[in-house]
Formats: sequence, C-alpha cells, structure tokens
Amino acid sequence: MSISGKSRIYGLVGDPVAHSLSPLMQNHAFKMHNIDAVYIPFHVLPDDLPSAISGLRALNVAGVNVTIPHKEAIIAFLDQIDPEAQLIGAVNTVVNNDGTLVGYNTDASGFMRSVCTELNFIPEGRDVLLLGAGGASRAAAVALASAGVKSMTIANRGQARAEKLINNLMSHFPSIQFSAVDYNDNRYLKAISVADLIVNTTSVGLHGEEINFLPLENIKGSALIYDMIYSFSETPLIKSARSMRLTCINGLGMLAAQGEDAFFLWTGIRLPTDFMRQFLGRAECRT
Ligand code: ATR
Repeated sequence: MSISGKSRIYGLVGDPVAHSLSPLMQNHAFKMHNIDAVYIPFHVLPDDLPSAISGLRALNVAGVNVTIPHKEAIIAFLDQIDPEAQLIGAVNTVVNNDGTLVGYNTDASGFMRSVCTELNFIPEGRDVLLLGAGGASRAAAVALASAGVKSMTIANRGQARAEKLINNLMSHFPSIQFSAVDYNDNRYLKAISVADLIVNTTSVGLHGEEINFLPLENIKGSALIYDMIYSFSETPLIKSARSMRLTCINGLGMLAAQGEDAFFLWTGIRLPTDFMRQFLGRAECRT
C-alpha cells in the first residue's frame, strides 16, 4: 500500500477494534480498485466519542465504520441520519460530505442481501422469528419488515425489550403481524413451528455456547436458519442445525455485505457480487 499526500482516510471507530476484519476487507477493496485511500482502526473509548467525532471533522476523515459500543451513541454527534438508520436507532457507517457527517446503517442492507442471496430467502409473505431484541435484532427487524414479511415474532429473555422494539415498528409497518414473546411463552413454540426464517441475533454462541432456548426439533424442515454470529468455523447453532439437515448459515456473509455497502457509500463503486465474501474466504484459508 502506498500513501500519498492526497490519500483519503477511512477507518473504524469502536472499542475494541483489534479483532476487526474490516481494515483487511476495505484496504483490499481500495487496492483492487486503485483508489488512493487507506482504512485504519481507531480505538475510541466511550468517554472519548465526542472528541473523536470532532477529530474526524478536523482531520477531514472521509468516512468511518462504527462498531460496538458506539453505534447508538454516535447519532447525537452527526449532522444527518439516513431514515432507515434513524428507524433502527443505530449507525454503522458515516460519510463525510465536505464537513457534513451523514450516518447510515449498512447492517440492515447487508443482512438482507446475505439472507436473500445465500439462503435464497424470499421475504414477501413469510413468517419470521428473531431471537434477541438488541441492536442487531433492530437492524434485521427493520430490513425484514421493509422487505414485506407477513409476520414477525421477536423473542427475548426480557420480553419488555422485545415489546419496546415491536411498538416502535408497528406504527411504521401496520400491515405486518408483530408479536413479542419470551422463551417460556407458548406463542414462542408456535412461532418456531411456523417460521420460514429464524434469525439468531443474540450474542449466545459467540464463545462456543449452545443456544438452549431454541428446540430445533420443533422447526419445520423447510425453514431457514441465520446465525448472525460470524465465524470461520461452524457456530454451535449451525452445527446442530446441520446435523438436523436444516438449511443454515452464519453471519460472515452479512459482515462482507455490510462492508460492500459501506464501500459503495464512500466511493460510489458497487463491488462485484461476493467480492468481500470471497476475500474473507481466502483470509480464512490463511488463518
Ligand atoms: P447487539 O447490539 O449485538 O444486538 P445487545 O444490544 O447487547 O447487542 O443485545 C444482545 C442480545 O442478546 C439481547 O437480546 C440479549 O437479551 P436480553 O435483552 O434479555 O439481555 C441477548 N442475550 C445475551 N445473552 C443472552 C443469554 N445468555 N440468553 C439469551 N439471550 C441473551
């Protein structure tokens, strides 16, 4: 990589950032498209977020990705928020338009492209079940609702959080049947048995834990399972689902697709289908 006096600077704002695959992906894309730009990790602690954003403006950083724990907090410091990111309540991509910082959410579009292309999911008229009601769930819920699913059940340990999420969505998507349940609710078992798509948005599985609140034997054989946890090896959920011959994937495709969409927002260039996913595949071979 050669950096010139004209190089544009992009980066990742988060805490932690050391584990992130985004610098590898984005720098690869810049290089392959001969773009004079560099993408660097910025480790920003929560208390430093306001000054970090001022720094982005002062240093004319062209754009950033935003990750845990700043995706919601950053909204207050930006000049404009894309309507979908506003509805999700989280920003993962910022574009610096000549000093105007605009926030977007490419987790939603990335999830949707991944689930539709990798699992051949057709959202219109489908019944979906989301496990979890945090930020990742909000992105998936808005994406699926915008794409026209018929019904959406959001299950969470704490039902109140799922209810809050659904109350927010109901006014925007009045034709969708929403339900909020906890894992002990009979309606949860019913939702498992009818769901065309089940998405794990919880953090369970991140450290190799089993999801003990999803009885796979109740899932219909044609259902698709999406585990948002990304991993080069099988997540516990994917391993169990495969052993029951269910169709399933983990979140690597979403990671790749949200990166492709951020790259498009920054450069106007649509990367070829699967560009980032194939790169991650090659990175996997080297690990
Ligand atoms: P993210 O932004 O990645 O979605 P988050 O907002 O912290 O992260 O949300 C994490 C989700 O995982 C929540 O739905 C959380 O459930 P609670 O709201 O009940 O905390 C869920 N989660 C985390 N650990 C869990 C566990 N051991 N069992 C079930 N759900 C869990």
